[in-house]
Amino acid sequence: MKISKVNDHCIWLRYGNPVMTESLMFDTQNIETLNTLPVLPWTINLTQNKMTLAYTMDEETKILGLGENLRGMNKRGGLYESFCTDDPVHTPDKKSLYGAHNFLLITGKTNTGLFIDYPGKITYDIGYTLHNEISITINDVNVDLYVFQRGSLKELTLAFRSLMGKAYAAPKWAFGYQQSRWSYETKKEVDEIVQGFEDNGIPCDAIYLDIDYMENYKDFTVDQQKFPEFENYVKKLKNKGIRLVPIIDAGVKIEPGYDIYEEGIRHQYFCQNNLEEPFVAAVWPGKVHFPDFLNPAARRWFGLKYKNLVDMGIEGFWNDMNEPSVFYTEDRLQKTIDMAKNSEGENLDIHSFFELTDAFKTLFNHPEDYQKFYHQMAGTLVNHKKVHNLYGYNMTRAAAEGLKEIDPNRRFLLFSRASIVGQGRYAGVWTGDNHSWWEHILLNLQMMPAINQCGILYTGADTGGFSGNANGQLLVRWSQFSLFTPLFRNHTALNTRSQEPFAFDQQITGIMRNVIKLRYALISYLYSEYMKAVTKHGVYFMPLCFEFEDDLSSEVDDQLLVGESLMVAPVYRENGKGRYVYLPEDMLMWKASTHEIKEIQLIRKGTHYINLALEETPLFIRQNRLLPMSEPALHVDDINLTELTVLGFVTDEATYVYYDDDGVTRDYEHGGYWETVIRVVYHNSQFTTTIVHNTNHILQKIHFILVGPDGKRVENQLVVNDTSEPV
Ligand code: GLC
Repeated sequence: MKISKVNDHCIWLRYGNPVMTESLMFDTQNIETLNTLPVLPWTINLTQNKMTLAYTMDEETKILGLGENLRGMNKRGGLYESFCTDDPVHTPDKKSLYGAHNFLLITGKTNTGLFIDYPGKITYDIGYTLHNEISITINDVNVDLYVFQRGSLKELTLAFRSLMGKAYAAPKWAFGYQQSRWSYETKKEVDEIVQGFEDNGIPCDAIYLDIDYMENYKDFTVDQQKFPEFENYVKKLKNKGIRLVPIIDAGVKIEPGYDIYEEGIRHQYFCQNNLEEPFVAAVWPGKVHFPDFLNPAARRWFGLKYKNLVDMGIEGFWNDMNEPSVFYTEDRLQKTIDMAKNSEGENLDIHSFFELTDAFKTLFNHPEDYQKFYHQMAGTLVNHKKVHNLYGYNMTRAAAEGLKEIDPNRRFLLFSRASIVGQGRYAGVWTGDNHSWWEHILLNLQMMPAINQCGILYTGADTGGFSGNANGQLLVRWSQFSLFTPLFRNHTALNTRSQEPFAFDQQITGIMRNVIKLRYALISYLYSEYMKAVTKHGVYFMPLCFEFEDDLSSEVDDQLLVGESLMVAPVYRENGKGRYVYLPEDMLMWKASTHEIKEIQLIRKGTHYINLALEETPLFIRQNRLLPMSEPALHVDDINLTELTVLGFVTDEATYVYYDDDGVTRDYEHGGYWETVIRVVYHNSQFTTTIVHNTNHILQKIHFILVGPDGKRVENQLVVNDTSEPV
């Protein structure tokens, strides 16, 4: 075993000879090697081919983390697996979703964190078998462990974040509202949706193309019947302020003559079976081969294929089915059909009946099928099961690296379904096939900070729910949370009820218009906070306990901190006319029924029942923090950035660094961004507002709406001098 001190918070233990996941990216040259193992909170046991880690919890211990996974923010009490899984029924008894995020934060007198850098399956028993025990099992002894100690939960998270490299920056338009469904199948259908937004005066920046835009589900093709003159069409919509975002699936259709298939075969870019032939599985198009994204040559080849669509004006993609999802393999399907044939005319009893139905039910993503194929890694064939969690990550990496080569300075929208730690450098994620269930608003909220802890910042859920039928109030309440998530996309499945913001009745349409306009008013703040998290290795969402150390803050798991100024507490109960909200300090509450700042009120520290009519989005502005906002527009590019409204609750002094950049290029990586340092001081019952520093040449005027400790509202205007000197 090799032991190294990575930094003041982190010890790295290397056991055996692990697979290089490239999850972390830090300078391994200049770190200190230790000769003895420091005292660790974990008991680590190794047998010949298995590692187990055990931790004893106190009654008060809470376990945060595991990224995209089920149950509450505190994972105690559950069984979990780290194995990217396409399971569309997200119920609390499930053990894994699409991501595999092996990071845990454990609270105690001394907090501790753990990251397990391992690409195969890991199982976590977190106080399930034994109330006070965490037991983690890995069927391998070649593993990298990173133990984080000596710091607050936030410090340990930031120490982990600092080892991952810079996070992905989405283009600014991707902070606009986005509309999807499986599928807007034709140009005519897309036109009707665009018209719906225009007729109803609802802002929108993107419409999604799901699998039906392709010719027979073949990646990088466009069905000319459904979308004639696609390139012109993309241009026409862009002129209206709408981008089209097509889906790309992991499986490549087996079809002689199809160039991607032919090239993949010719260059041996596909995963292989044990006979070293291309492995066959089935997904949407029927039989497919899986590109071997773990092979750098195949990765580059696939990544550059995005050019087909980029050349037609496309600026964003979503990568799907990349766990990878397997509907069936040929031999398993055959066996199952034979079983059915043999059952014909039989008297099926309790055993044989369920054996037959289970055989069909378990065809989809059968665990044994993941052992049937291999990857080329550094000249050797590696069984998929051992490196399963690297697949979606490397598909996304292929796309990100390809897009960078295709148009080096452009920021593309890119997000994936499957993910691991490290993927946040390349793209975002969405949380997959949820349901139109109220419980999934809460699950959405609970997953967001945990996914951020793993360095994936551009995130969001299918707002309104994917499976099942939404009603208007569900869409409204869900949107009142999603308007704070970087990805704010409404998406639903085939054969479900329409759930566009104007698909219900006049009342719901009116409320949704205001909710979406509120999002556009907040984009200045949300984008500023997102980009600061990108450039400073930070997080965008935090649980309350990251900033407040009182007992109740660590209990709350249905409220979040969004950036440095805001706390959110959405209603997630059907017919709920309000909810309990815990305030760890005095805050300014804004019940926003429109983006205009009318209903604001100082609320004292403590627990309060807050009445919230359907049209009211609750926002809580933290003490001595500022919230910059803009006048909404129908598209992000049209937001007027010459003027800001800053809402603040200041009892002493507040400083906000307002970040902005062109939102399109990577120039921000080399100093191409602007900062405005805004300060408000409250003294002797008076506010003083100043611009301490400014490099933003667009910004001209700031309108302040300020509330002091007495709860009184004061307004004032400030003209911004175009200078980088203190004024
Ligand atoms: C998967 C995706 C979903 C998409 C569907 C059809 O289920 O998660 O978002 O709509 O495939 O492509």
